[in-house]
Amino acid sequence: MAVIRSVIRSVGAYLPKKVLTNDDLSRIVDTSDEWIRERTGIRRRHIAADGELTSDLGIAAARQALVRANIDPVDIDLVICATATPDRTFPATAVRIQAELGISNGAAFDIQAVCSGFVYALATADNFLKSGQFKRALVIGAETFSRILDWSDRTTCVLFGDGAGAVVLEAQPQHGTREDRGILATRLRADGRYEDLLYVDGGPGSTKTTGHLRMNGREVFRHAVQKISGVIEETLLESGYAADEIDLFVPHQANARILDGISRKLGVSPEKIVVTLSEHGNTSAASIPLALNHAFEQHRLKEGNLVLMEAMGGGFTWGAVLARW
Ligand code: UT7
Repeated sequence: MAVIRSVIRSVGAYLPKKVLTNDDLSRIVDTSDEWIRERTGIRRRHIAADGELTSDLGIAAARQALVRANIDPVDIDLVICATATPDRTFPATAVRIQAELGISNGAAFDIQAVCSGFVYALATADNFLKSGQFKRALVIGAETFSRILDWSDRTTCVLFGDGAGAVVLEAQPQHGTREDRGILATRLRADGRYEDLLYVDGGPGSTKTTGHLRMNGREVFRHAVQKISGVIEETLLESGYAADEIDLFVPHQANARILDGISRKLGVSPEKIVVTLSEHGNTSAASIPLALNHAFEQHRLKEGNLVLMEAMGGGFTWGAVLARW
């Protein structure tokens, strides 16, 4: 039976020019390259220049994705930007991205699910495309976490970086089988009882400030492997695929030890995992499209590949998306 699927037409990404290494950080807080590498797998991160906004990063990533898809911006009718570091409290960062790209059709809005933002945004766009409400979507994950870090807190400031990634999705008729191209299954979860384990201690409605990121890393770590593995198992069950049929596992990039734990639990072989966090740290909602872009540029991501994406972040929020490229 013919169905409409959201086919991922292309990916693009952007990292700010300025690089901050672990050694640079050891001159700011009491840390070391050895500690950061061993506990997280991170070697360096990119930091947005003064005046370089989340939307600027998103626009650069989106432009690359549009060129690679050979799609004119005017043919995009949905722009979703996943970000926890918007340019301003309002309007949405997606609206500035839309305007700068010359898009004035359809809708544009932000999604706030922190590190799970890209997975949430993909699932949202997928439902709009499948319902026939929109035809082509630009889904962006863009963050400038450097602006909400407490640069005197070594337990958090070494972990995050700035960056953006984007994909173009297009509604296309497919056969309605598990061999279809496009998004095959999505699973989104949230549990607000854990809000105090990872949060920002400010906001327009409470402190009237932006605030700084606070995290109980050990507790977040403890939940991550279990919650992410669970949502992946549900996604695979829904789609009828087994873990060993996945061609490429593109996880949120928070900690190399979390990725090891998940892949061991699920039985995904290490060569199928895309790991990029050594180069840019945890970029929150940008990390999955940055990793997709890396895999694409390394010729590891090809048409027909079965790709599994997952993320977990503040809230807690977590989720997974299974797609055939
Ligand atoms: O994207 C959202 C999801 N976020 C995550 O998934 C993050 C999950 N958590 C983690 O990745 C890890 O918990 C961290 C990397 C944040 C921390 O690693 P850990 O192995 O859980 O370390 P810990 O928090 O248990 O700290 C161990 C020690 C402590 O010292 P004591 O109490 O044992 O003396 C910390 O004070 O390491 C110390 N420490 C540091 N030492 C040097 C904490 N941060 C640093 C640092 N440099 N940057």
